[in-house]
Amino acid sequence: MAEQSVSRTAIVTGGASGISLCVVKLLLKEGYRISILDLSEGDLSNEISTADKSRVLFLSCDVSNWATVRKAFEDTREAFGQINVVVNGAGVYEPKWSSFWEATETETYKTVDINLSGSIYITRLAIRDFIRSRLAGATVVNLSSVAGQRASFYCPLYTASKWGISGFTRAMGTLEDQLGIRVVAIAPGIVKTPLWTRNAEKISMLSEMDEWVTPEEVAEAILDVIKGAHEYRGGDVIEVLKNRRRLVPLAELPSGPGSTASNSSAVCASIVEQLVREGESQGGRAML
Ligand SMILES: NC(=O)c1ccc[n+]([C@@H]2O[C@H](COP(=O)([O-])OP(=O)(O)OC[C@H]3O[C@@H](n4cnc5c(N)ncnc54)[C@H](O)[C@@H]3O)[C@@H](O)[C@H]2O)c1
Repeated sequence: MAEQSVSRTAIVTGGASGISLCVVKLLLKEGYRISILDLSEGDLSNEISTADKSRVLFLSCDVSNWATVRKAFEDTREAFGQINVVVNGAGVYEPKWSSFWEATETETYKTVDINLSGSIYITRLAIRDFIRSRLAGATVVNLSSVAGQRASFYCPLYTASKWGISGFTRAMGTLEDQLGIRVVAIAPGIVKTPLWTRNAEKISMLSEMDEWVTPEEVAEAILDVIKGAHEYRGGDVIEVLKNRRRLVPLAELPSGPGSTASNSSAVCASIVEQLVREGESQGGRAML
């Protein structure tokens, strides 16, 4: 594999606020150039020092709009060259304008489009880039949630999107062994960010007995994944609570007659071959 470049580039979605903004700050300290994909800049210009601004590119982008996401990848490559890391932090907490219990949507559930489909599509684009560039340490971090382990009646779309993110991430585990690409999910608990604080009806679910996780705690866990600390592996889902992290175990797996697909390894091998061909046709080679 190629040597790690001195100056690395990260795409961080949702980087104008909350957890992802903390990730942006930590990555800037590590010397990264960062492309932030978000709906608006928010308070970014006050949050990032003048010295660091030359290493930050803000791209106005709705992650559920695939054409703008593709354009954002192109703009990032044009500004910074190769991409090393992607953090999928953009997300919404089933707001009233995209709630299963409100009749606000007629064609699609935006909560699912943003939290799940957007992250999946961005992961696919990242894999394509990583295969072409063959840089060491190629990593995607997806933001799941403890909602991806629970089943909450009050936010079924959010629950579905986060179970989806965790399942999708687990399904990507093979990429690390086969092509050196790590796709990992972080599953935070209740984190004090605008996701909660600007949302009165969500805040009303909390009492003085509940404890916040800080966005910094979650961002530190994400940085550890990116740096390859703690031997986190591709496909892992890592829960981040107050002063505590845990590798989330897979639920009891099905076994026995009726549950198996005995030739699936052949299909997996053909997908890896297809990815290798994809890399070659883009002028790169496989990362093995
Ligand atoms: N705060 C929590 O308690 C908590 C817990 C578990 C998981 N998470 C997850 O962490 C991630 C970050 O959440 P946060 O708490 O920092 O929230 P936040 O609201 O502070 O930040 C989310 C960011 O995503 C952006 N965003 C929303 N829709 C977008 C779209 N369509 N395209 C591009 N950007 C979009 C917002 O503008 C915002 O900047 C989310 O995926 C969330 O589900 C949060």
